Amino acid sequence: MSETGTLLRAEGVSKQFGRRRSLLDVARGRAPPVTQALLGVNLAVAAGEAFSIVGESGSGKSTLARCLTALHACDGGRVLYRGRDLAGLRGAERRAFHRKVQMVFQNPLSALNPRMTVAQTLGEALRVHRICDAAGVPAEMARLLDLVRLPRAALHRRPHQFSGGQLQRIALARALSVRPEIIVADEVVSALDVSVQAQIVNLLITLQARLGLAIVFIAHDLRLVRHVSHRVAVMYRGTLVEMATAEALFAEPLHPYTRLLIGSAPTLDPRHRLGQEPHVAAAAKPIPSEPSGCVFRQHCPRVQPCCAEAPSLRLVAPGRFAACHLVDQTSQETPHAGR
Ligand SMILES: Nc1ncnc2c1ncn2[C@@H]1O[C@H](COP(=O)(O)OP(=O)(O)O)[C@@H](O)[C@H]1O
Ligand SMILES: [Mg+2]
Repeated sequence: MSETGTLLRAEGVSKQFGRRRSLLDVARGRAPPVTQALLGVNLAVAAGEAFSIVGESGSGKSTLARCLTALHACDGGRVLYRGRDLAGLRGAERRAFHRKVQMVFQNPLSALNPRMTVAQTLGEALRVHRICDAAGVPAEMARLLDLVRLPRAALHRRPHQFSGGQLQRIALARALSVRPEIIVADEVVSALDVSVQAQIVNLLITLQARLGLAIVFIAHDLRLVRHVSHRVAVMYRGTLVEMATAEALFAEPLHPYTRLLIGSAPTLDPRHRLGQEPHVAAAAKPIPSEPSGCVFRQHCPRVQPCCAEAPSLRLVAPGRFAACHLVDQTSQETPHAGR
């Protein structure tokens, strides 16, 4: 990816959260425990790219999304938007960032004012960000509704009058109203029925292509990611373990964790979701603040003595990254690796 095309870049991003001390901790005078939600995450999202982050519940996806959108400050590393460190953005620059990088959440109701009609919600966004003058507002609202495929009548209704899928369309219209360059979509279809999930996923793909938007699509369900993304990053316990084009990742996962996910991910039965698989459920456990060794080694079928040292995410084939000491060996065993 060329440097000029990079919109968002995470460099060694880490984030900890403090947890409450247990009675035993207090009695023994221990410091408050911390959850290391992210540890040294590196990634770059290009303009117009569909980039997915997949990982089970608790692996750090939402924390990463919040660091990428400056809703959280990171404790270690930095996030750059068009080469500028988010930590240094102030005033008008910061407001411009929050316009260009929009986040859409799993629960659209949390982001929509229940007392406002859709017209009021969209009108406010258009006015605050000075997207168009008052005379242009009706046409702009019509354009937004067409984009998310909602009827004009939706303008006069309030959030409680819509279904979950329709609410997510409204949240998307609200995000699109300010003409963003990137939408970070955090589990936007997780709470929806499977048939509605497909409609929203298709809408995102269409919008991404039609508007030339970059989309960071975050999901715990591997099946959703396959069709949405150019590239996929796989998270496990706060770290990225593999990153590749969707095609290469699904054709030939290289990291042992990704291999387990793809080998075990059923294609049809919606009751079997990533994260409900017994052998990978450990990802939800908080990780110690200074983990030693590979985060996956307790569950890895290929574990070796060298895994006591933490592997970093490294280039293992053109366009492919994996955080595993054993991947070279893996590739040699599989002649098609690294396409
Ligand atoms: N605001 C917070 N305060 C304390 N712990 C948090 C907070 N947000 C996330 N965590 C912890 O960080 C870890 C990663 O959480 P999260 O980023 O929400 O994962 P995911 O979105 O993949 O389910 C979890 O252990 C979670 O409990
Ligand atoms: Mg989450």
